[in-house]
Amino acid sequence: MSLLGNLKFKGSDATQMLRNQHRITVGIAEGFIANEVKLEDFVGHLDYTISVHFRLEEEILIPVLSPLLRQYLEFEEPIRIIRGEHVSIKSLYSTLYRSVSFESEDTTATSEEILNKSGLIAKTLLQHIFKEENGLFGMADLYIPEQQREKIQSDLERKNEEYHQAYISAHGMVK
Ligand SMILES: [Fe+2]
Ligand SMILES: [Fe+2]
Repeated sequence: MSLLGNLKFKGSDATQMLRNQHRITVGIAEGFIANEVKLEDFVGHLDYTISVHFRLEEEILIPVLSPLLRQYLEFEEPIRIIRGEHVSIKSLYSTLYRSVSFESEDTTATSEEILNKSGLIAKTLLQHIFKEENGLFGMADLYIPEQQREKIQSDLERKNEEYHQAYISAHGMVK
């Protein structure tokens, strides 16, 4: 099943920018799994997503959503899950990165292992986005009051630009 064709990626002003990024990431991750996107392009996009998109969620959306969930649902389990998945994806990526960087010498990882690891990350990332699109972001759209949405949108846009620029200065380009 393709998520690209099945998710709507549509929400309120508070989540729309992040959903637009999801659409791009899903296209690249599904393309990689289908062998239509090169490993280096997928890994480049993953690195960018961790540096920019994950940060936007953790630093802007979650801090607003967290007290609202506590207030309305009296638990923050959905946030704990999403944060935990960010940690898992980052750690999967750092082990992959080590295999890729040391590939030329003294390596234990074969290119097949690298492809397998990347495929696992792509699937994990897709499941994560599916959960956000159908779970956490729906809650954000439901519980974040109308008056706050525009401010979140502009914070997201401003920080997105800032993290994007910081990423380009550090890496030289974006995949
Ligand atoms: Fe996320
Ligand atoms: Fe996300």
